[in-house]
Amino acid sequence: MAEMRNEVTEEPAGSGLIDAQAPEEIDSEAYRIVDRYVSEQPGGQEQLIPLLHRVQEYLGYLPFPVQEYVAGKLGLSPVEVYAVVSFYHFFTTTPRGRYQLKVCMGTACFVNNAQTICDVLGDLSGIELGGVTEDRLFSLEQVRCIGACGLAPALMVNDEAHGHLTPITVRKIFRKLKSAARKEKNSAGGEADSENKH
Ligand code: FES
Repeated sequence: MAEMRNEVTEEPAGSGLIDAQAPEEIDSEAYRIVDRYVSEQPGGQEQLIPLLHRVQEYLGYLPFPVQEYVAGKLGLSPVEVYAVVSFYHFFTTTPRGRYQLKVCMGTACFVNNAQTICDVLGDLSGIELGGVTEDRLFSLEQVRCIGACGLAPALMVNDEAHGHLTPITVRKIFRKLKSAARKEKNSAGGEADSENKH
């Protein structure tokens, strides 16, 4: 892993924008996932935005060291990547869960027990509203009407809507997300191990 980080620090310095950020301790898995995505979608610098999307989807946000690492992988300067991240509103440098659980609290959902859905998710994840789990897998928030009132009570998981929720279906969704994350983690770890053996 040390080699990967060296690759980052050897990137052209000079902007000061990223260098000025406080150092962040990033799990080595974050770098492995970038390696994996780059190998899956080769194509150079035009892959920047799709790549950032995938990385953010996985990590929940785009930490500065990872932006630098992406820059190194695509032959860009860290500032070029930072400029893209700050330009588009859908990118964030603030930690959120990989799975952003957004419980709709609009009127239709509210009168259909949205608060119970929220409470169940809080119990399952162990976090309060606005919080992020330690493993950064889940964040929990309440939002206004998501435009799916016919599905009330409804929940967004990232960009996907789930409706007609009950405590039972919410538990199922939560378990499914955890299991998907576990599989992806194992798969990323397996690929990294196999690469290290070559
Ligand atoms: S009130 Fe929840 S989707 Fe409209």
